[in-house]
Amino acid sequence: MKIEGKTVLVTGANRGIGQALVTEALSRGAARVYAGTRQPLAHPDARVTPLNLDVTDAAQIRAAAESIESLDILVNNAGIALYDDLSERAALEQHLAVNLFGTYGVTQAFLPLLTGSQGVIVNNVSTMALAPFPFTPAYAISKAAAFNLTQSLRALLAGRGVRVHAALTGPTDTDMTRGFDIPKASPESVARAIFDGVENDEEDIFPDPMSASIADSWRNGAVKAMERENAAFVTAAPTAA
Ligand SMILES: NC(=O)c1ccc[n+]([C@@H]2O[C@H](COP(=O)([O-])OP(=O)(O)OC[C@H]3O[C@@H](n4cnc5c(N)ncnc54)[C@H](OP(=O)(O)O)[C@@H]3O)[C@@H](O)[C@H]2O)c1
Repeated sequence: MKIEGKTVLVTGANRGIGQALVTEALSRGAARVYAGTRQPLAHPDARVTPLNLDVTDAAQIRAAAESIESLDILVNNAGIALYDDLSERAALEQHLAVNLFGTYGVTQAFLPLLTGSQGVIVNNVSTMALAPFPFTPAYAISKAAAFNLTQSLRALLAGRGVRVHAALTGPTDTDMTRGFDIPKASPESVARAIFDGVENDEEDIFPDPMSASIADSWRNGAVKAMERENAAFVTAAPTAA
């Protein structure tokens, strides 16, 4: 899937990696970029259409989907990450509401358009889907769930011609990681690598040096092989997914 000429929707598009994804899609020649944000957004490029889109708000999701005629690429990027220690159920619910159910709700709403275009879904998850960082366990749980959702959608939607990618993003220099004194990739380089991954048809995209260091072992590992074996059951016996 080339980005040039395509219609792209990015959630959480006003800052951080989402903002960089909008810029990168434009620089690759996207025909239209829908920028989903919680506050009004002004963008100098006429190809950008702001969309009022809190991913936890079912009415806003529905209205956004109804306002768009066609879509090739959905990037579920909106996310939250807060410190917690698993002592409060509310913290877990808050992360699941945005990072799991937000991704789920937006995906379901735009699925008819993506099926029509034989499109692409990219879920910006995290290396923490594979290995939690114990200062943000609720976040890690939500990203693990979102990654598992991504894997199931990948299998379920393959028969409808929709490709589903996970970006297993590592530390990136945004508001989300302010306060962590660790090496971080720039959001611009991560956005480039995510769209490179889509254009190169990489199922699981490792868009920064830290995540890239585990890419080969993941892609050639027993767990990935099991994902493919399990997915083959759906391909063999398609259900009403
Ligand atoms: N930074 C990293 O190291 C890193 C690593 C792995 C994965 N990721 C993932 O990358 C994605 C982007 O993160 P980032 O680093 O760019 O973080 P960020 O700078 O904190 O940006 C988060 C974005 O998500 C939006 N958002 C939050 N809750 C939302 C909601 N309910 N509805 C719609 N939008 C919402 C924010 O909008 P507001 O401005 O309105 O709050 C903002 O645009 C996230 O899914 C994150 O988990 C980041």
